[in-house]
Parts: sequence; structure tokens; C-alpha cells
Amino acid sequence: MAAFHIEGENKLNGEARVSAAKNAVLPVMAAALLTAEPVTIERPPRLSDVSHMAGILRDMGCQVEWGERQMRITASNPGGCPKQADVRALRASILVLGPMLARTGSAEVALPGGCAIGNRPIDLHIKGLAQMGAQVECEAGRVTARGRLQGCSIFLDLPSVGATENLMMAACLAKDVTRIENAAREPEVVELARCLNRMGGKVRGAGSSRVEIEGVPALHGADLKIIPDRIEAGTLLCALGAAGGEIVLKNVYAPALSAVIEKLGQMGLSIRSERSRLMASGKVSRPVQLSTGAFPGFPTDLQAPMMALAAMSPGDSLLVESVFENRFMHAQELTRMGANIHIEGRSALVKGGALAGAEVCATDLRAGAALVVAALGARGESVVERAELIDRGYEGLEKKLGRMGAKVTRTQSAEG
Ligand code: EPZ
Repeated sequence: MAAFHIEGENKLNGEARVSAAKNAVLPVMAAALLTAEPVTIERPPRLSDVSHMAGILRDMGCQVEWGERQMRITASNPGGCPKQADVRALRASILVLGPMLARTGSAEVALPGGCAIGNRPIDLHIKGLAQMGAQVECEAGRVTARGRLQGCSIFLDLPSVGATENLMMAACLAKDVTRIENAAREPEVVELARCLNRMGGKVRGAGSSRVEIEGVPALHGADLKIIPDRIEAGTLLCALGAAGGEIVLKNVYAPALSAVIEKLGQMGLSIRSERSRLMASGKVSRPVQLSTGAFPGFPTDLQAPMMALAAMSPGDSLLVESVFENRFMHAQELTRMGANIHIEGRSALVKGGALAGAEVCATDLRAGAALVVAALGARGESVVERAELIDRGYEGLEKKLGRMGAKVTRTQSAEG
């Protein structure tokens, strides 16, 4: 297992380049199943989740070549299904269900099951495909779907990102028009729609809560460059808020970060955007009140790093997690560093104060990022165990922070 050793209270100064968005690259990789022609993605982030998805696509008969500059996926004759272990390890693997069904008329995926942050059901994915005419069965921990798809109107009970993406991809090859009401509006959904249209799809309205997809007989290949990762950018801004200093983030799409920039400004950071760069300086000095929600609300994936900041920022902060039912696992670990956090259901009341370095353990990807943020602002040395969970969603986080002056070293323990 990997660990990060962090010496706190070293200011950040310098610049970092934000990688392509993990949560856009994963659905776009699944979308390659929709065509027999090669789909290339420029410089996908070197993340374990992306490697996992590549393995899943290879198990499904795709050719996946991942070189220095691009990944090339060719699904000339896809078949088979991802292994249970892979699906449990990567929930996003459920995103192969819709495109595989639409392309071949049948698909089978192990049920992803829950994870550290919640139960993570897929009922909206299944209900939508069934409404489009698929026979969908869930038994013995697997979901199988068969049939030709017919466009129809689908109302999502929740603006689910994954369900919107799965159904959007399936609808590209369905007969006639599919309308998705109460669709997710996340930038990653918009990016998937843009890529599907680059592949010959006819998707309109992505980014609004009503998406319309006109089915076409086939899609073709495309060369794709994916939007920057807004969650990585937000995490690096939180790192600045903890350590203080002045940084420049390159390859940032600021409109996707409005809620985050607003809240960090309230906490005392000054952030300015200029084309694809963000200039940020300062250190947190004020409390924050925030509630996570679907886009354009505050992103749930940055709730944990923000709680780390609130723990060291003077005053009483209140954070409400409205999206996932169990996304406060990082609070326990933060209290080991002296954080004063009181959890009541989906609300966390955080009294800011000084943090001291400690040995802590990541429970999930974003909780791990929160512990790194806390360690950067804590007095003394911290060790963040299970750093491999951080590698799932951050490309070389310790290197990017180190180049800006943070004292972070990675160790690898014997047990792999
Ligand atoms: C995506 O997960 C992201 N993952 C998550 O990022 C992100 O936190 C989440 O969207 C919310 O923005 C990827 O894009 C790969 P949802 P997803 O379906 O699609 C409930 C990270 O750290 N729901 O929008 O699984 C669900 O339980 C990850 O990068 C149903 O009830 O999220 C949750 O409460 C974590 N039934 C809410 O909707 C369903 O069929 C939002 O989930 C589907 C979802």
C-alpha cells in the first residue's frame, strides 16, 4: 500500500497543470463501444480508474492502446462482460451497459453494489433502459439487458449523472427520438454529449434538464480532447487554502467551478480566471456554509476537501451533504488531527482551529484528498495511508503539490 508523508505549513508557490476530467473520460471510453471505428482520446489522465476501465473494455473484446499522447479504443466486435471484481472496483463500469446493449442488442454487467460513500443504486439506469424496450433482469448479482431499443420519453426521479450518461449513449442507436427529463446538468454530461455528436450522434440540450437524442443507424470514430478536471482543480485550490501562498492553475474551465470559487472566496481566498488559467492566492480565514447538490450546485466530490479547510478556518462552518448518504467518513480521520466536527445526519458542524499532523487513513478517493489538504495546513508531520485510493482520481498529486513547494513524499509498503 502507498502512503503520503507530508510536512505541513509549507506555502504553495508556482503553477500546476490540471489533467483531463476523470468523470468525463470514463463515460467517453464506454461510448467507444457504440462504433466499430477507432475512438482516440488525447492524453487521458494516468489514473487507476482509467486503467481499470481500459481493462474492462479489453475484457469486452475491445482493442485498447494507451501510448504517450493518446488512448485508442477500437470496438470492432465487442462481446463478453466485465469481471465481477472489476465492476466492484470501478462503479463507473456500469456505463458500458447502455452502449453495449444499443450496439449489440444484449449486455451483461455485474451489479456494482455499494461503496464507502453510499448504497449507489442503479435503478434509474435499469428503469430507463426498460422503458426503451429492453428486457432487463437483475439476479445473482448481475444485470442482463436484451432487445432492440425504441426512443421514448424518460423522467429521471433524480438528476443522476450516470443514469443520464448511460441512457444518452443507449439512445444514440435507438429507433426514433428519446427525451430525458430531469437529466443531470454536470459539465461531464455536456462533454459526453459533445463527444457523441463528434461521433455522428444527434444529442441536443445537454447541460439543461431536458436532453433530446435522435437515434441514428451507426456512429463513427473520432479524435477527442476532454475537458479539464474541475474536481482536481477545486482540490488544488483547497490545498492552497490550507497552506497559503500564490498559485496558477493551467488548463481550467472556470465556468464549471463557479460554486467552488464563490465558496473559497467567502473563506478568504482571492481567485481570478483568465482564459484557461486560474490565479489564486491567500489562505482560509473565515468559516463557510455550504450544501452539496446537482450541478450547478456545490459538487459533492469537493465536500470532503472543503471540510478539511473548514476544520482549520476560524469560526463555525456548516456543511450539508445532500447527494450521498454516507459521505462524512473523512470526519473521523480529521478529528485525529484535532478537528472539531459534530455530525448530525447529513449535516456537519465544524469549529475551526489549529490542526496537528497525525497518522490518518484514506477511506475513499475524495476523503483521501481531504486528508492531504488537512495535512498541508497542519503543524508538523502527517502520514496519509492508502494513498492508492487517491491515485484513482488524481494524476501525480504529490508531484504537482511538490513542484509548488509542498513537502510530500510517497512511500510504498510491503503489502503491495
Ligand atoms: C457520478 O457518480 C460521479 N462518478 C461521482 O464522482 C459524483 O460524486 C456523482 O456523479 C455526483 O456528481 C462518475 O462520474 C464516474 P449519481 P454517479 O448517479 O453517476 C442516486 C468521484 O469521486 N442514484 O449522480 O454514480 C445515488 O445513490 C465520484 O469522482 C439512485 O438513487 O452519481 C446518489 O445518491 C464519486 N439511483 C445520487 O443519485 C440510480 O440509479 C447521485 O448519484 C442512480 C443514482
